[in-house]
Amino acid sequence: MGDRLKGKNAVVTGGGGGIGREVVLALAREGANVVVNDVGGSVAGTGISQTAADRVVDEAKKMGVQAIANYDSIVDFKASERLIDTCVKTFGRIDILVNVAGILRDRMIFNMSEEEWDAVLDVHLKGTFNCSRWACVHMRRQRWGRIINTASDAWRGTVGHCNYGAAKGGIVSLTYAIAREMGRYGVTCNTIVPIAATRMTMSEETKAGFKKRLEAGLITQDRYEELTDIPGPEFVPPVAVYLASDHGANINGSAFGCGGGRVALYSEPVEVRGIYKDYKKNGAWSLDELINLVPKTLLVGYTNPAPPEPEEKKAAGG
Ligand SMILES: NC(=O)c1ccc[n+]([C@@H]2O[C@H](COP(=O)([O-])OP(=O)(O)OC[C@H]3O[C@@H](n4cnc5c(N)ncnc54)[C@H](O)[C@@H]3O)[C@@H](O)[C@H]2O)c1
Repeated sequence: MGDRLKGKNAVVTGGGGGIGREVVLALAREGANVVVNDVGGSVAGTGISQTAADRVVDEAKKMGVQAIANYDSIVDFKASERLIDTCVKTFGRIDILVNVAGILRDRMIFNMSEEEWDAVLDVHLKGTFNCSRWACVHMRRQRWGRIINTASDAWRGTVGHCNYGAAKGGIVSLTYAIAREMGRYGVTCNTIVPIAATRMTMSEETKAGFKKRLEAGLITQDRYEELTDIPGPEFVPPVAVYLASDHGANINGSAFGCGGGRVALYSEPVEVRGIYKDYKKNGAWSLDELINLVPKTLLVGYTNPAPPEPEEKKAAGG
């Protein structure tokens, strides 16, 4: 037991299982009181149960901190307000919010239903907005706060779950925005980009999906092995706890990869190269100018991440 978060109060969404559970226990281990939020549903976000959150509350209490459960869905704007208020009313204030809750509805874009798109965007992106929005009211007033979001490497481009990748990309952008809006009030906002073996990553369905992608040539054997041999969720929380502590006071608007023995800082998107013309005098770029200049300037060293299939494969219906 440490005491680096003693006297601090936290809300962890999706705290009833997987990475969220480990985050709750790691915060409690450092002395923080915790509201454990979880709907207790399936990976796809169906069903509800109180057992998951209750179990983690019991585990946290055994570490000598106060802990209570909340079973609301963070998709609901009003319920998210109640969740944050529960922390404030029970413990006196909210210092730390860790947005972890998430679901999956994997499908290629040409097969994805509107419902599959909405469900994933709602839990990840809207849920992160909802809880952050209400927490920021209190954090701004008290001029102290830590928000830690959960993105995914899928943010950088993925195959088979564009809803998830887009939601996670949105979370990174939301993180950048909250950091810039709230920094002046002593509130930091960062995101972790974890990798861990949980029911989300290691279900039979997910493993079968990786296998299909390997067989379709969409991922390499090395990537397949990387995806199917991953460390447990207990290796993810140290970075979140670090960011939540006093040592994280000046870390704001960053994305940290974590899992196993890895902690990594991601770059922010930057303009890598540009070509410029005096548009006020010479007007817009012409198509001919771009055809001539772009390959020689912007695209030097460029590789298409997903080039068209070779003719033989297309002809074979691959
Ligand atoms: N496991 C990984 O390798 C990995 C990689 C990148 C990102 N992530 C992200 O980490 C987070 C946790 O994932 P995990 O692997 O622990 O999966 P998990 O399924 O074990 O945990 C997700 C938890 O969120 C809860 N939840 C879902 N919808 C909710 C809602 N509307 N309101 C409240 N709770 C809700 C679930 O009940 C579950 O307990 C997710 O955001 C996921 O996208 C995980």
